[in-house]
Amino acid sequence: MPLRGAAAPDQLVFYVNGRKIIEKNADPEQMLLSYLRKRLRLTGTKYGCGEGGCGACTVMISTYDPASKKIRHYSANACLLPICSLYGAAVTTVEGVGSTKTRIHPVQERLAKCHGSQCGFCTPGMVMSIYTLLRNHPEPTSEQMVAALAGNLCRCTGYRPILDACKTFCKESICCQRKANGKCCLDQEDDLFDNEEKVSTSLFSTDEFQPLDPTQELIFPPELMRMAENQPKRTLFFLGERVTWISPVSLDELLDLKATYPKAPLVVGNTSVGPDMKFRGVFHPVLIAPARIPDLNVLKYTNDGLTLGAACSLSVVRDILSNAIAEFPEEKTRVFCAVLQQLRTLGGEQIRNVASFGGNIISRKSTSDLNPVLAASNCMLNLASRGQQRQIPAGDIFADGVGNNTIAPEEILVSIHIPYSRKGEYVSAFRQAPRRENALPVTNAGMRVLFEEGTDIIKDLSIFYGGAVSTTVCAKQTCWTLTGRHWNEQMLDEACRLVLKEIALPGSNGGENVDYKKTLMVSFFYRFFLEVSQSLKTMDPCHYPGIPVEYGSGLQDFKTRMPRSIQIYQDVEPSQSPQDPVGRPIMHQSGIKHATGEAVYIDDLPSVDGELFLAAVTSSRAHAKIVSIDTSEALKGAGVFDVITAHDVPAANEFYFSDDPEIIFARNEVICVGQIVCAVVADSDVHAKQAAAKVKIEYEILEPVILTIEEAIKHNSFFEPTRKLEQGNVDEAFETVDDIIEGEICIGGQKHFYMETQSMLAVPKGEDKEMDLYVSTQHPAFIQEMVAASLGVPANRIMCHVKRVGGAFGGKILRTGLLASVAAVAANKTSRAVRLILSREDDMVITGGRHPFIAKYKVGFMNDGRITAVDAKYYINGGCTPDDSVLVAEVSLLKMDNAYKIPNLRCWAYACKTNLPSNTAFRGFGFPQSGLVTETWITDVADKTGLAPEKIREINMYKKNEQTHFKQKLDPQNLIRCWNECMEKSAYYSRRTAINEFNKQNYWKKRGIAIVPMKFPFGLATPYLSQAAALVHIYTDGSVLLTHGGIEMGQGIHTKMIQVASRELNIPMSCIHFCETSTTTVPNACASVGSAGTDVNGMAVKDACQTLLKRLQPIIKKNPTGTWNEWIKEAFEQSVNLSATGYFRGYNEYMDWEKGEGHPFTYFIFGAACSEVEINCLTGDHKNLRTDIVMDVGCSINPAVDIGQIEGAFVQGIGLYTMEELKFSSEGVLYTRGPDQYKIPAVCDIPEQFSVSLLSSSQNPYAIYASKGIGEAGFFLGCSVFFALRDAVTGVRNERGLKKTFALNSPLTAEQIRANCADAFTEVVLCPTDCMLALSLPCYAQYSLGENNSELTQRRRRTTNEMANNGAASSLGQICVNDKP
Ligand SMILES: Cc1cc2nc3c(=O)[nH]c(=O)nc-3n(C[C@H](O)[C@H](O)[C@H](O)COP(=O)(O)OP(=O)(O)OC[C@H]3O[C@@H](n4cnc5c(N)ncnc54)[C@H](O)[C@@H]3O)c2cc1C
Ligand code: FES
Ligand code: FES
Repeated sequence: MPLRGAAAPDQLVFYVNGRKIIEKNADPEQMLLSYLRKRLRLTGTKYGCGEGGCGACTVMISTYDPASKKIRHYSANACLLPICSLYGAAVTTVEGVGSTKTRIHPVQERLAKCHGSQCGFCTPGMVMSIYTLLRNHPEPTSEQMVAALAGNLCRCTGYRPILDACKTFCKESICCQRKANGKCCLDQEDDLFDNEEKVSTSLFSTDEFQPLDPTQELIFPPELMRMAENQPKRTLFFLGERVTWISPVSLDELLDLKATYPKAPLVVGNTSVGPDMKFRGVFHPVLIAPARIPDLNVLKYTNDGLTLGAACSLSVVRDILSNAIAEFPEEKTRVFCAVLQQLRTLGGEQIRNVASFGGNIISRKSTSDLNPVLAASNCMLNLASRGQQRQIPAGDIFADGVGNNTIAPEEILVSIHIPYSRKGEYVSAFRQAPRRENALPVTNAGMRVLFEEGTDIIKDLSIFYGGAVSTTVCAKQTCWTLTGRHWNEQMLDEACRLVLKEIALPGSNGGENVDYKKTLMVSFFYRFFLEVSQSLKTMDPCHYPGIPVEYGSGLQDFKTRMPRSIQIYQDVEPSQSPQDPVGRPIMHQSGIKHATGEAVYIDDLPSVDGELFLAAVTSSRAHAKIVSIDTSEALKGAGVFDVITAHDVPAANEFYFSDDPEIIFARNEVICVGQIVCAVVADSDVHAKQAAAKVKIEYEILEPVILTIEEAIKHNSFFEPTRKLEQGNVDEAFETVDDIIEGEICIGGQKHFYMETQSMLAVPKGEDKEMDLYVSTQHPAFIQEMVAASLGVPANRIMCHVKRVGGAFGGKILRTGLLASVAAVAANKTSRAVRLILSREDDMVITGGRHPFIAKYKVGFMNDGRITAVDAKYYINGGCTPDDSVLVAEVSLLKMDNAYKIPNLRCWAYACKTNLPSNTAFRGFGFPQSGLVTETWITDVADKTGLAPEKIREINMYKKNEQTHFKQKLDPQNLIRCWNECMEKSAYYSRRTAINEFNKQNYWKKRGIAIVPMKFPFGLATPYLSQAAALVHIYTDGSVLLTHGGIEMGQGIHTKMIQVASRELNIPMSCIHFCETSTTTVPNACASVGSAGTDVNGMAVKDACQTLLKRLQPIIKKNPTGTWNEWIKEAFEQSVNLSATGYFRGYNEYMDWEKGEGHPFTYFIFGAACSEVEINCLTGDHKNLRTDIVMDVGCSINPAVDIGQIEGAFVQGIGLYTMEELKFSSEGVLYTRGPDQYKIPAVCDIPEQFSVSLLSSSQNPYAIYASKGIGEAGFFLGCSVFFALRDAVTGVRNERGLKKTFALNSPLTAEQIRANCADAFTEVVLCPTDCMLALSLPCYAQYSLGENNSELTQRRRRTTNEMANNGAASSLGQICVNDKP
């Protein structure tokens, strides 16, 4: 069938928020997200990743089926949804749900009032996921709620407050939030509350909430219903700039089209084709959309099973299977259950709602979770091509190992037949992913066995694996060999060996650990063995003994449950005026705007006339000379305006803050992959990106290429100065200790993964070289300074404005300055406004992150647990330019003692200079790494002395007024209070006993617990860095405009500042407005960093307000009963100045590195956290069961904000210590470039029970209203999960008689946990041929008992321990493997 030639393309008709859209030029390449944001100016829907992985772009799609007369509402990721797929659909965005101009929806209201938004960038996506669920289930269960949020990421909140908002809609009450005072669901321990203290557990009041009224929702547009019912369906054509979209309505037509365009893909959900076209350079001039064809949407029950159309979405398949399982006898539905098992965790809800069954199968990706189980279960694929139909087993499409020649190009998959299971047939599916939900699997499997009737003799066995090679793979030989065998230990033993022999895994690619995959393959089979053995027992208990009780836990996967949580804080004094908001849990000032999508971020700013978009061209080499840059092809690209290089920088291209420069554009040489070489500006972001890809850069590799810390040490490549701190006499102390341990720990880096990527808009004003810069930054003054210097103009011509930042965490300072300079240079050259919004991929490649860290330590201690000597060396990977690396190294030294007094201590810190993107500030600034090192050697000492880790912690903790290792005075009273309260609230000892009992009863699951104290020093070690200023205007109508130098990036600083101004001026918060932070109102403001924002700006705001109040005093005194408005009016008439600045000089902080002493910090924040986890020894998976945190935040100005900061930081800490893993190639290319490869914590990762208590009666004389800066401290407490995992692994190793001492690195991923829970399966991976012959099921267990002292067993143990340690290192990816010096 020819294309429609010159005939006009169809008009695309759909609805958005009740408004009819007729798009005459629908472009098949345009996704709904850019259409909403750019075309319709609906900017509430956000871009977070563009690949379906973060949920920021979630919208609700509603469609009408005229046959069933049913409307289907489902959530979808707008970033992957082609607009052409929306013909006849209704789209609801966050703007359509509710707005401040019309009516706020209960979802928006509750999310905001429950403090579910911080930076607010993820909030519209959250709103849409919850809203869609409620449209389908007005009273959802908590399981439905957590499932609905699995595809939405939030980097700020730690999810707890979001889930609290969700709970208010759930049928069952999970939490006590409704209880005003007293005990909640977490109150298992009677002593949770100290009756003496007036504490509160309510951060919001449900009484305020509007009820959910489903009748108030937008109705499905009647016109679309009529269209669906009355208009005959016809083929639709849409023609774009490069691509044609054809949507046929009948199977015959589809087959004709496929015959004409055999290479054209069928696009249903676009979750596979879309990312391929967007990120992998695949181009398809014709796309065929078959979703409207009835044959591809069938649901048919037959005698032997169920037939489902290939275009059915995965969530439709899930629902159909769930219903069938409920309807049919268990014996018939084993295949359905196994498929459903995979569907529950495959992708997020938004992906499952659009991704098609057929698409998942036909993509034949190695990571398909369905293919192994469909293939193993003998599902049949119904294929068709013009004039032909055939049926093939699902397994056949992988027969050749690559799976591309079984289905002809012109053939399509019509439907899939899933058979009923038969008597004596058992089917299972398994998967293990880096994160339990919304993550592609590392390895998965589908397995099926059919027994000879009434026996355990294998009649038919089928084993398929995914994630192993490039497609799904069958262990065919293994299955043939085992057919006819009894289902017993010998068969298991042989199966493991055969599988490993048959499935040859290629070498490590993309930083993957092959041994882990192999271990999973045999562990999965073992799990299948256990499951089937158990089923045989159920069938015939006399003949089949089943499995030992303690193995039962190995059969269950972890499930995500709605967490239970409690937050405890001290109430304000009853005498405090009700109008005074200080100390109360006030909602984030922008909360409602976040939830309605009205909060404006940089890319939401309307376009400026003539605006250009910038795309950066970055280096693909880690260290090379630039031989040539050929921009000729790029300049010819559609819409291209210019290419900007270093030659276009009018003044400074290099900035010397220390010996080595920070560079805007690489000039002659590149020093890392991702360095900006030049940039293309064009009329759209798409054109700019297309042209950027055409710039050709020729390189000549330069030596050396230094990527790792090890290589930096070898080449003596460091940023100066190296720092050292020493106290006592370390060498002498080592002479007198009872014992010494030496060790090393490697801590991987971390990406900020702020939800709003680096964003800026530079607008030249056309006169006097003035330029407005709108930037997502933590430090506008610095951006102003850098841009002014690069343009060669005075700073007074550059105005930098920041309304809010969609998350920063330290990553939006220096790196942002360089990017803003790139945009400003382009704007200067072109005299046009230039917008630069980094894609997630570019953001991850260009910007650095937290410094990878290696520590070597030697610790001397007495047998009673006293640590008397520590000698350590820290190496941090600074990347290619200095940035803050030396400062990070310094802070890591200053905070290394954590909570402990070590009398003799020496430590060096080196900042390594390498060819990685420059690493930079990140929440905690070196402490999360050095604190982890300290807690590691504390644990090592515990292992060696045989004392409990908490005992070693208590013995060595600061106890009285003492000096730190740099001679600053410290009062640890509140540290001890936090520790004791945390011990008590967590019921540590009774739970430890319960855990020991659990561990005795469960062989394949183990629990662990750890409690960790924290001293977090507050300060920036330099007095002028904590100065701050504010500007307060009072207008004649009495309204107040407040501004200060702090940046709102989610930490609630503006809310707190309004609280301060409200108290000082004694007026309601509603009278005070905050507009933006700008260099025009507050000059030279310091960066919002180091938890200091509220402390210092609060002082300045207070100062300004007090100045104003002083001026108003005579008027107030004269008319004490007057109102605020009357006083202001009077003041104006008396010519009183109603505008004032406020100033805070800063703290007297200093550090003398020559002497190794000083007063770098003003005060200390204390805390303690106790975490409990459960691990699955067969997969390495784990679940965070419970965390109790006690934190000393002084007198909290806003407990909701402070608790939010603690929880959010804690969960980010869990990310660093247990999940977030960066992988680089050996050439320095980052593999982990987006949410599909880099996993930050999601809803499934937060503790099932989560309690945060603020220490009561704590005062701090150094900060505003006796509060403490709390932005960073909670992060470190995430390591309590790391040590709880370590405790669980120790339990496994002790039970199995494995080596007592073992090293764990961070992140402690499933891979590392599995490797350290060494057993016969890890062993068989290492030596598949010679050491398994004697093993049988009891031996798998007895392996642990250490009863067999034969040489073979000894050798096995040695190998297994080695593997455990190797596995630990390699889990950090290539960089960290090599990072070991
Ligand atoms: C963020 C994200 C997370 C994911 N997580 C997982 C996961 O955890 N586990 C997992 O298994 N998968 C996962 N996936 C993959 C996803 O399940 C598949 O991409 C999806 O099922 C493909 O269906 P689709 O309709 O979107 O395919 P499309 O992208 O529309 O098409 C995919 C391919 O299939 C072909 N095709 C589609 N239908 C037919 C047909 N009827 N006949 C012939 N060819 C056809 C097309 O020609 C095309 O080549 C994830 C994807 C994303 C984006
Ligand atoms: S932007 Fe669409 S899922 Fe991230
Ligand atoms: S509030 Fe969720 S990402 Fe910031």
